[in-house]
Amino acid sequence: MASAQIIDGKAFAANVREKVAAHVARLKEVHHITPGLAVVLVGEDPASEVYVRSKGKQTVEVGMKSVEHKLPEQTSETELLALLDQLNADPSIHGILVQLPLPKHLNEDLVINRIDPAKDVDGFHISNVGRLATGQKAMVPCTPLGCLMMLREQHGSLAGLNAVVVGRSNIVGKPMAQLLLRDSCTVTIAHSRTKDIEEICRRADIVVAAVGRPQMVHGDWIKPGATVIDVGINRIDAPEKGAGKTRLVGDVDFDSAAQVAGAITPVPGGVGPMTIACLLANTLTACCRSHGLPEPDGLTA
Ligand code: GUN
Repeated sequence: MASAQIIDGKAFAANVREKVAAHVARLKEVHHITPGLAVVLVGEDPASEVYVRSKGKQTVEVGMKSVEHKLPEQTSETELLALLDQLNADPSIHGILVQLPLPKHLNEDLVINRIDPAKDVDGFHISNVGRLATGQKAMVPCTPLGCLMMLREQHGSLAGLNAVVVGRSNIVGKPMAQLLLRDSCTVTIAHSRTKDIEEICRRADIVVAAVGRPQMVHGDWIKPGATVIDVGINRIDAPEKGAGKTRLVGDVDFDSAAQVAGAITPVPGGVGPMTIACLLANTLTACCRSHGLPEPDGLTA
């Protein structure tokens, strides 16, 4: 029996989208500006195609302009960089996202760093990484931003709380740690090689699991009452559902952790829906900044 509050990421994301849509409507009415997001997909990875379609649909639903560039697998680096230069120069585009992973012949770092940092709604450009780390205004990666929003809603101020981030990826773990530090948490980054990881997690008021290992964080790693944010999305065999069936699980063993935690995000339906909602929030923020207008309340780091 779960005793933790289950954080409803789907409802939270819907609320973020509503706030974005309301702000977009005002921008259009008062300033005659429509935020625009360009998504670039190279090749035909089926999972990426699903994400890109979903991004485009939600962008339009909040009243923004959505542009999709689908390029063939064999696209050269020169061609891709030329497209980014064109999008960088296009005043109707405020956000640019290059869907990852890219085909192997393309240099991801080179491509990401060609995006105008002011339009880098993924927050992956080296200048945004540096800005986040030094406390300057940055574009912040969407998934950690979504986690931060949920944590602020749960706790109000995060100042002084012990936070453990399990995982050290550039996309989630490292920026998550930076954001928690900016909100005055005492932050520990744990990872696959960390000694006494259970002990370290047991001291945490906040655990963010983003390590990519199914159900690694168990209930007995969790301090009673702690908030647990599960970023993992792993597909595992589910023989109980029938031969050959699978199911999605997080990096947290939900059933045991939910007995101890104060609040916990489920998988699916927790952090997942927040990522695209935060992409829309970032596009709106980029648009406001580019026009020198006030940033939307509650939608930025
Ligand atoms: N592929 C998987 N996640 C992401 C993401 O957050 N941004 C981009 N650009 N590609 C991804």
